[in-house]
Amino acid sequence: MESQATLAVPDHAAEPLKAPPSGHGMPPDAVLRQRIAVEYRYDVHFTHGAFAAENRTLADVLAQDHGTGPHRVYVVVEEQVRDSWPGLVSDIRAYARAHAAQFSLAADPLIARGGEEAKNRPELVAQVQASLNDAGIDRHSYVLCIGGGALQDAVGFAAATAHRGVRMVRLPTTVLAQNDSGVGVKNAINAFGKKNFLGTFAPPFAVINDARFLETLPPRERVAGMSEAVKVALIRDAEFFGWLRRNSRALSAGDAGALQYLIRRCAELHLRHIGTSGDPFEFGSARPLDFGHWAAHRLESMTGYRLRHGEAVAIGMAIDTLYSELAGYLAPGTAGAVLGLLRDLGLPLWDEALREEDAVLRGLEEFREHLGGELTVTLLRGIGQGFEVHRMDERLVRRAIHQLDPARAA
Ligand SMILES: NC(=O)c1ccc[n+]([C@@H]2O[C@H](COP(=O)([O-])OP(=O)(O)OC[C@H]3O[C@@H](n4cnc5c(N)ncnc54)[C@H](O)[C@@H]3O)[C@@H](O)[C@H]2O)c1
Ligand SMILES: [Zn+2]
Repeated sequence: MESQATLAVPDHAAEPLKAPPSGHGMPPDAVLRQRIAVEYRYDVHFTHGAFAAENRTLADVLAQDHGTGPHRVYVVVEEQVRDSWPGLVSDIRAYARAHAAQFSLAADPLIARGGEEAKNRPELVAQVQASLNDAGIDRHSYVLCIGGGALQDAVGFAAATAHRGVRMVRLPTTVLAQNDSGVGVKNAINAFGKKNFLGTFAPPFAVINDARFLETLPPRERVAGMSEAVKVALIRDAEFFGWLRRNSRALSAGDAGALQYLIRRCAELHLRHIGTSGDPFEFGSARPLDFGHWAAHRLESMTGYRLRHGEAVAIGMAIDTLYSELAGYLAPGTAGAVLGLLRDLGLPLWDEALREEDAVLRGLEEFREHLGGELTVTLLRGIGQGFEVHRMDERLVRRAIHQLDPARAA
């Protein structure tokens, strides 16, 4: 899968400086116009067993720049992934020996604690930056990060700021990171009580999605990651939504084949959006892929990250889908099908934090502030048809929340 992104810039070009007319000085006011277009290309590979000696995916990625090898690679491994795969670090060493022409370990792999905690403090970013300095990593070396979306975000931020950006190869190990966060162009850590407050837009050098790592992912994490596939189906692809409904039983049971299709289609739709939306670095006020996310981000922080990101997104989508129906955008009965799919996949539609309605509603202002400009929320006018509004009716948001409350339904 290949993504192309072009940075949108105003349509003007640098003009040559004219010599001043003789006898006169330079005019006091002037403007020198600048235009820069930067193209990024990166591939998202799907494989199984990336560190088996005969698997050439990683070695080929490292050699992709046609530079003279071996390429120095600084490896970061999530502690939980190392614990789930006790042979992993020795497999990485053996892989480097087997592909010595392309791959040289710049230092012993760093084992780092992942999960949201990795993003809640600046220590990990500082530690990775210091290690990249100690290992003499330059802009033609690589950082290879093996772990979930949270670790990818923190290590990605460190890699993007060392030498103003060293090459980052992501090897995401969760469903969410393989189908959404790991294939995108952003990184961040949390700061000042705000999610993703410090971060950069930095496309990866490459992404390697290894299906094998998903075998040890706890079921709760696997299910949570599927939420982003429902999201992208709802706003972009009715056919995919139908496929998800037909396969919800296999998916909730952890069928590996069904899960692979879900991940690839979801990753493809995310890449297509980033590559073709015209705003990959989010200069505008809209973030169409963030359907259900205004409430989700708020619920994550209100629950101290007890709710997984995907779980919070499921609840946020339930609210915004019901809202779309209550506001008359969505045909009556459509919301029932959406909520049914989320439920069938094993995703939550309710959390007790929703009882603090005023606190939840503050999520709308936080969402606006994160993007800047005008509030822009994606809603649905049909399955596969997201559209944007700039105002949310608080009474209808409260009614949508009430409809999800099991205590009111009883
Ligand atoms: N950069 C972006 O564009 C973007 C987009 C969406 C989400 N995100 C971020 O991604 C993060 C969530 O990522 P996530 O859902 O991958 O969660 P996560 O990184 O917190 O991982 C979830 C849990 O699974 C464990 N784990 C990871 N891989 C495993 C494996 N193979 N086997 C066993 N356990 C494993 C981790 O240790 C952790 O406990 C959030 O911080 C969210 O903000 C970023
Ligand atoms: Zn998300």
